[in-house]
Amino acid sequence: MERTKIFELLNSDDSMEQVLIKGWVRTRRDSKGFSFIEINDGSSLKNIQVVADEKLPNYADVKQLSTGSAIAVGGSLVASQGGGQRWEIQADDVQIIHLAPEDYQLQKKRHTDEFLRTIAHLRPRTNKYGAAFRIRSELAYGIHTFFRERGFRYLHSPILTGSDCEGAGELFRVTTLDLSKPPLKEGKADYAQDFFGTEANLTVSGQLSAEMFALALGDVYTFGPTFRAENSNTRRHAAEFWMVEPEMAFCDLDGNMDLGEELIRELTTYAIDNCADDLELFARWVDKTLMATLENIAQSDYIRLPYREAVDILGQSGKKFEYPVGFGNDLQTEHERFLTEEHFKKPVIVYDYPKSIKPFYMRVNDDGETVGAMDVLVPRIGEIIGGSQREERLEVLEARMEEMKMDKAPMWWYLDARRYGSVPHSGFGLGFERFLMMITGIRNIRDVIPFPRTPQNIEF
Ligand code: 4AD
Ligand code: MG
Repeated sequence: MERTKIFELLNSDDSMEQVLIKGWVRTRRDSKGFSFIEINDGSSLKNIQVVADEKLPNYADVKQLSTGSAIAVGGSLVASQGGGQRWEIQADDVQIIHLAPEDYQLQKKRHTDEFLRTIAHLRPRTNKYGAAFRIRSELAYGIHTFFRERGFRYLHSPILTGSDCEGAGELFRVTTLDLSKPPLKEGKADYAQDFFGTEANLTVSGQLSAEMFALALGDVYTFGPTFRAENSNTRRHAAEFWMVEPEMAFCDLDGNMDLGEELIRELTTYAIDNCADDLELFARWVDKTLMATLENIAQSDYIRLPYREAVDILGQSGKKFEYPVGFGNDLQTEHERFLTEEHFKKPVIVYDYPKSIKPFYMRVNDDGETVGAMDVLVPRIGEIIGGSQREERLEVLEARMEEMKMDKAPMWWYLDARRYGSVPHSGFGLGFERFLMMITGIRNIRDVIPFPRTPQNIEF
């Protein structure tokens, strides 16, 4: 007989004669003549209650069942006698697959997020993390659905690259050279003798590949892991994180902002509609204002604000910020949160940033000082999307690369795209973990990644 997922049984309309479930014991409670066993199989937040009668041939063993043990239960699905649940299982057969010893760390009590990070291999078995990672899975599907419905093609951009898209130098080097005695040339490691015959690193963004494919397939998106050796130990930065990067041919900055706004609104709606049970946990235990915040994000029109005006608002706010405000300074989380949480009380798209603080590929505006960049900022998180219209004019792009002292030679293929059929095109990157933080109210990025990688931490 095949096992049924507990989730399906809990949603059943009718009782059932014969069912088989397999899962892990959350609690066992003995009564006179029988025991109640709460079982969870990870298919949903809710457990199912099993009633095990003392007439079971192995009842003596059943009474030893400890939290965390794995069991298989055959029996019938019947309307529950007690309150609190609609259905329960009257067991005919309880097989003990594995008995967990008493030192199992997830006994029934609340644990801190900090402690659970030290047992990241077990934390998905808790209610909170089970819910967080089911939501993560649902939303990954939601992303593919969103783009597929709009005719976007899914592109697998490379993880190993030779370029630094963002130009921030936050690269993880990839090498097979023996680091204790690398071959040398003029006193430096000779990467010509390395695996790829040149320097290589993990990608910080799939954008450059996505641009090439947008100019071939029209509208594309990537969705995959990206890596940054940023040594900032903040609650919203990870060394390995997932990014969703759409890229659209024949699209300007306005169209780009439209898509970014639509993606966040639709995906938030998707979460509200498809993850109701799991979201309820977060609304109850993590952030009481969560559902109101999500409704606001799903329903409002986002503010569109030129960077210069954002700077004016911040300057006139009367607030004491830790970081300086003024043209040419990047916006910090504290500024982004002020704009979204206090000033406008909804998501804000800031655009036309100074070119001095943005990468080489962004389209230079007519003022010569700003570029067609846009960041979508949301309450509690700050920046969730970063994107731009791309520089499609060959001479302007080359001049900008020279100005930034970039080596143009290895970028010949990127420049080629501006030589043959160059068109206005735009795209952005949505940080998937930041989006999950927004959806769940979880405050630390480490808690929305199955096995987070941050400075000084690569355990599990
Ligand atoms: O603003 P960023 O650096 O933009 C790019 O990488 C562009 N190449 C994207 C594009 O236009 N195709 O990063 C995009 C988003 C940020 O807004 C943020 O949500 C997330 O990626 N992000 C991080 N998330 C977690 N940890 C980090 N270290 C992150 N760095 C960026
Ligand atoms: Mg950014």
